[in-house]
Amino acid sequence: MKEKGYFISFEGIDGSGKSTQIQKLARFLETLGFDVIITREPGGSVGAEEIRNLLLQGNVDRWSAETEILLFTAARRDHLERIILPAMEDDKIVICDRFTDSTRMYQGMRGPNLRNLVDMLNEKIINCDPDLTIVIDIDPQISLKRAKSRETVEERFEDFGVEMQLNMRHGFIELAKEFSNRIEVVNGQQSVDDLAKDICSIVKAKLS
Ligand code: ADP
Ligand code: TYD
Repeated sequence: MKEKGYFISFEGIDGSGKSTQIQKLARFLETLGFDVIITREPGGSVGAEEIRNLLLQGNVDRWSAETEILLFTAARRDHLERIILPAMEDDKIVICDRFTDSTRMYQGMRGPNLRNLVDMLNEKIINCDPDLTIVIDIDPQISLKRAKSRETVEERFEDFGVEMQLNMRHGFIELAKEFSNRIEVVNGQQSVDDLAKDICSIVKAKLS
């Protein structure tokens, strides 16, 4: 679906440092002369941001896993059509806070056969994986403390608790083995600047 541009996603459990590192990477790439856009999921386009509010607010049992998969996929399709693919067509580097791998993990691990459903919808409706995915690996005890200190209304997923975040952490490591051609795991338990150095050198190597 995409021949121009370069698509990087960031993944990891809540509060792992994705937004912080995305800002750092974007500034780094801009100093190298690249045209960069930053976006996020769920959301990133007007319609998808409306779906984001439905997904991230309210009680943990507001939606079944199946309904969530449909809502995340609908939001992603809109985001892809309106923001990501046009930016790629303009030969930009797109950096996205979460993408398909989050649905594989957060919804796909909630029950038997759900991962198949995610993959099937992904193939039929999205048909686009990132060129490079950075997974920030971190102990959930540390990241949840960081995430909770933000005090937003978007806490539905954080409210699933530490055990779920531990499963996600392991899940992301396994996913990196499954998609070893595009996923790189970095250590989130270091200073912002040390982690940024690791990420910038991975991205620079891929781009050259
Ligand atoms: P995410 O986007 O993955 O949820 P953020 O980048 O928003 O994570 O980081 C969550 C919180 O942790 C923020 O308050 C941020 O300032 C802080 N933070 C991010 N990276 C680090 C780090 N390497 N060390 C300590 N605190 C960090
Ligand atoms: P995000 O805003 O990235 O939260 P954080 O900054 O705390 O990491 O994502 C919001 C939540 O949405 C996050 O808990 C993970 C969840 N999510 C899914 O469950 N499935 C998905 O496909 C996506 C993109 C996010």
